[in-house]
Amino acid sequence: MSCIDNINIKRVPRHVAIIMDGNGRWAKQRGTNRIFGHEHGVEAVRNSIKAAAHIGVEYLTLYAFSTENWSRPKYEVDALMRLLVNVVKNETDELKANNVQLKIIGDRQSLPKKVCREVDKMVEKLSANTGLTVLIALSYSSHWEIINAVKSIAYDVKKGKIEPEDISRELFDSYLATAEIPNPELMIRTSGETRLSNFLLWQLAYAELYFTQKLWPDFCEEDFYQAICNYQSRERRFGKTSEQLEKTNLK
Ligand code: FPP
Repeated sequence: MSCIDNINIKRVPRHVAIIMDGNGRWAKQRGTNRIFGHEHGVEAVRNSIKAAAHIGVEYLTLYAFSTENWSRPKYEVDALMRLLVNVVKNETDELKANNVQLKIIGDRQSLPKKVCREVDKMVEKLSANTGLTVLIALSYSSHWEIINAVKSIAYDVKKGKIEPEDISRELFDSYLATAEIPNPELMIRTSGETRLSNFLLWQLAYAELYFTQKLWPDFCEEDFYQAICNYQSRERRFGKTSEQLEKTNLK
């Protein structure tokens, strides 16, 4: 029996975020180089998009490259950038046919021009779609994002566009790369590591965290459904007590 049979379709998270980890270890286990692992990671990206769209997730954020990843060996960084451009070129038609939209979050200024050009083309080609939105976090880190937001708020205060008293959680949200996108209710990390690694630190404040031993290239649709089932088995209290929640549910 598949886990999908146990999913309550009415309680599917609107937004799922994934730290795709373990490509390097997957490759090492096979005696090959790390790039081979990243290449196989693309299949797991396809699986996750398919599974998310199938059960009606609205937003899927994938951590593809962190600002810290720039310090990896040059051959790996170059290969990852090439891989991204190829994926973007090869997958556009399939994503278009499946009504998937695309958004890129991250520090564009540090990305090679060719990567920006290709991803922009893909975003444009998918812009009329109305289904699942895939956010690719590319040259992204929460520290970069939060500092950027703070700078923009400071400039707007200086220009008189906003007053310091206007600064609220909602206003801060609107200065982030994920403005207008609901916060993820579920964050999945593969490969057994249990860190957030500078990923959506503000947005994950109340997310359920799900860690699996599976290495990213092995992550399949069933694994995605398993994470959703696990999420649905949790009690989300948002600081309240179980008794308070029971009362609200009875109303
Ligand atoms: C982390 O594994 C993975 C990455 C830094 C790259 C993720 C990229 C892909 C899956 C390629 C395609 C992505 C998209 C969105 C098209 P790691 O290298 O840190 O693995 P390790 O911890 O085992 O060394």
